[in-house]
Amino acid sequence: MAFSLLLPIRKSADTGIRLPLPDKGYPITLLLVRIPSSTLPHFMLQYKLTHIAKQFYTIASTASRRQFIWLCFLNIIIGLFEICVAGGISLLGVAMSSPEALTRFPLLPVIAASIPFPDQVPNALRMLAVVMTCIVIATAAKNALLAYLTWLQNYFAQSMAWAMGEKLFQSFLTAPYLWHTRQNSAELLTTLNWKSHISIFSVALLTLLTQTIIAIFLFSSVLFANPVMSAFLFCTIAFFAIAIHKYAQKQLYGLSTAIREYDIQNAKICMEGLHGIREIIIYDKLAAFMDAYSQFIDSYRRIASKQSLFPGLPQWCLESAGMALLLVVLLFLIGLGNSVAETTGLITLLAAVSWRLLPAANKALGAIMNMRTSQPIVERFLTLLDTPQSIPAISERELLPFGNNILLQDVTFSYPNADKPALDHITFLIPKGKMIGLIGPSGSGKSTLSSIINGLVVPESGQLLVDGKPWDPKNSRLKIGYVPQNLYLLDASLAENIAFSRWGEPIDEARVLKCCKMAAIDFLEDLPTGIHTIIGERGVRLSGGQVQRVGIARALYDNPDILFFDEATSALDEGAEREIQATVTSLKSSITLLVIAHRLHTVAECDIVYWVEKGRIVRQGSPAEVLPEYEAALAQTPGQTV
Ligand SMILES: Nc1ncnc2c1ncn2[C@@H]1O[C@H](COP(=O)(O)OP(=O)(O)O)[C@@H](O)[C@H]1O
Ligand SMILES: [Mg+2]
Repeated sequence: MAFSLLLPIRKSADTGIRLPLPDKGYPITLLLVRIPSSTLPHFMLQYKLTHIAKQFYTIASTASRRQFIWLCFLNIIIGLFEICVAGGISLLGVAMSSPEALTRFPLLPVIAASIPFPDQVPNALRMLAVVMTCIVIATAAKNALLAYLTWLQNYFAQSMAWAMGEKLFQSFLTAPYLWHTRQNSAELLTTLNWKSHISIFSVALLTLLTQTIIAIFLFSSVLFANPVMSAFLFCTIAFFAIAIHKYAQKQLYGLSTAIREYDIQNAKICMEGLHGIREIIIYDKLAAFMDAYSQFIDSYRRIASKQSLFPGLPQWCLESAGMALLLVVLLFLIGLGNSVAETTGLITLLAAVSWRLLPAANKALGAIMNMRTSQPIVERFLTLLDTPQSIPAISERELLPFGNNILLQDVTFSYPNADKPALDHITFLIPKGKMIGLIGPSGSGKSTLSSIINGLVVPESGQLLVDGKPWDPKNSRLKIGYVPQNLYLLDASLAENIAFSRWGEPIDEARVLKCCKMAAIDFLEDLPTGIHTIIGERGVRLSGGQVQRVGIARALYDNPDILFFDEATSALDEGAEREIQATVTSLKSSITLLVIAHRLHTVAECDIVYWVEKGRIVRQGSPAEVLPEYEAALAQTPGQTV
């Protein structure tokens, strides 16, 4: 088996990521991971962010869209409340130094006078109490709204994340069977766990929109008060914001893309370690494996910590730049020979405006950084959402009863990228109630043929006919019981495993027991709680032969019209195989059987035997006609045994 381990990413001109190469000599296949999108030009990154936002909007439900608008509104209200509270506190500052100054504000003296304070309380203190009360009320209201907003924002983000996660899982499950055979399960699982990035992106989008609106609102109000100073301030903040963004965006996109690939790689390595533990122990490779994994973690840790710097970057830079700006203006004004009053007046105004405008700019820019951090992952998520679908989503196909026969006529099928067809103009008849044998060397196309009848793959050309009528596996399915070579066991009870084909329905225990008997399951008494014993990953360990018998019981549970055995007994010892053989033969009269076999005595009882070779049927007839010839051919082929 090959363990894949991440070879540190090559230095990219765009991202500037350079990671150390591991020492030579690891007995592990090193896999080169590229950062595919890091070479994207700047304008494409820009386009993609809005493009993603649009896609989010398209995918979101009507309820989520409404929630988004309501959240924007709430965010703006709270933003304005925050400004009011801040304004109130500055007013308090004025009042503390000279309470009489408050009389300049309209309404305040009137309200203060109307409050039934004892007569000796001076008017200034009354006004102070009113201002204080307003601040308390505004703070409490703002915080109550903030609590509600926090809850709603999380609710919205979770709704978006889970809705998209569900959509992605559904698109995986409805993808063509062949697509699944080409995927890595660790990678798919990691992708499904990326839902959290969808919530980060959704909230960042919301923050960006609302903080930009608040910033515009603030800017307009100060523009009115002092146009020249505001324009100067706006231009300076905008200049720094654009510079920070320009510097950070490509770096961040590159780092995040690398982290995305590391995430996938990490899942793969862990999965390989866990699944390959037997070989790791046998070949004494634990130290080498862990050593290589430590190196991988080291690289991962380094770029992950670098990435975490970026969301805070706007605040640190803008704040420092803001302070420096005040100093520059001060020095400039001193240089111009302005009076103390003029200079302090201007500086105070500048400080007050930037104090309000900067947090909004910080939050908006921070949100863009968060979006860039999640962007590569969200992009992959959205691309996978477009996984081509083969079967109608969720809805069940009709069951197609079969009266006389199933016919595959002149069927050809090639796997993607294969140079030869796996099935080459095959015509294959399954008459009802017969037992059909399918023999042929490894790779001759037997399983592919069964996949066509199972509706897992669709032929390129040729026709599928059931009782002489064309059959489209996309719309209807035959009632098939399928016993594969390697059974997938659920981590559940034996009964649940057997009743798989009736998932979601109450389990018919009598039927489970009957199927166990038919499948020659003779180990029920050895199980602690009989058919309720948990088998599978964390349950009782069954031997290969026992697992196969569970597979047969599962296939029989749904009362199938046809039963497929795809080399199902090849892992069993002869005794167990003979027992199952007897079961299969006893089913002969009541059910149509298709037996794909490795050992020839398994098909000796068949009514018809098809001999497949290189995707073609080379011979068909009774076992007495076909088997001796096949055996003779095998004897002449080196390496092939019966
Ligand atoms: N999922 C797949 N993707 C690509 N090629 C495949 C796939 N499954 C089987 N093949 C190829 O198709 C041919 C027939 O395979 P298969 O039907 O499994 O043979 P058999 O069951 O007779 O051993 C082989 O050459 C095999 O390599
Ligand atoms: Mg096979």
